[in-house]
Amino acid sequence: METKITKDQRRVEVCYSPALFPVYYSNNDCIVVVIDVFRATSAICTAFHHGVKKIIPISTVDEARTYKSKGMLVAAERNGEVVDGFDFGNSPFNYMNPKLKGETIVLTTTNGTKAIECARAADSMIIGSFLNLDAVCEYLADKEKDVILLCAGWKDRFNMEDTLFAGAVVNQLKKNPVFKGLADSSLAADHLYELAKDDLEGFLKKTSHRNRLAKLDLEKDIAYCLQQNISKVVPIYKGNALTL
Ligand code: MLT
Repeated sequence: METKITKDQRRVEVCYSPALFPVYYSNNDCIVVVIDVFRATSAICTAFHHGVKKIIPISTVDEARTYKSKGMLVAAERNGEVVDGFDFGNSPFNYMNPKLKGETIVLTTTNGTKAIECARAADSMIIGSFLNLDAVCEYLADKEKDVILLCAGWKDRFNMEDTLFAGAVVNQLKKNPVFKGLADSSLAADHLYELAKDDLEGFLKKTSHRNRLAKLDLEKDIAYCLQQNISKVVPIYKGNALTL
């Protein structure tokens, strides 16, 4: 018989692909953490850290064109590259521009915004990256809810970098006795993080999106996204947008 998880006994699961989300998401009483370490959720955290007011995540490039035609600031990335005709893409460095302070940005990316779209029905959704790791863990510890760590992956497939971040969250949460319900998915992510934690960049050397970004000459984005706790922002999804 399955044990009922009470508020003092919260469950933590890792969903390794947006395609699996309907399997994991069965009730409203949970917080979903959307994770796309390379690079959407790192870029989103960076934007808020540097004073962006609001981000409207959308799924398709067609929608992005519609927003653009209305004069909005629109960022669009596909397969790691900026889509022609848009203001910028998905590099966190794009979001450090002081001119973006107080602005609203519309954003579409290959996997990150798709994962956000997937989890829209959730009662509560936040954005996680290594950049705001501790802030995310503190937020989760404060709420009396189960946790789903949703990895954006790559086109519905498993990826390593999002898994390592999910593992880093589990690694912290498991020290708190209220997080008793660690699913097998969480134990697996935690084990991988334990193996990788002393050299995340080295551990990711052979992984696919890391190498895709390296081929696009974006090594500096990789190094930036693997920094831990350089920000305390916790972007929250409400209505159709992310804010602080
Ligand atoms: C995505 O959303 O798929 C990624 O952030 C891709 C990228 O690195 O730009």
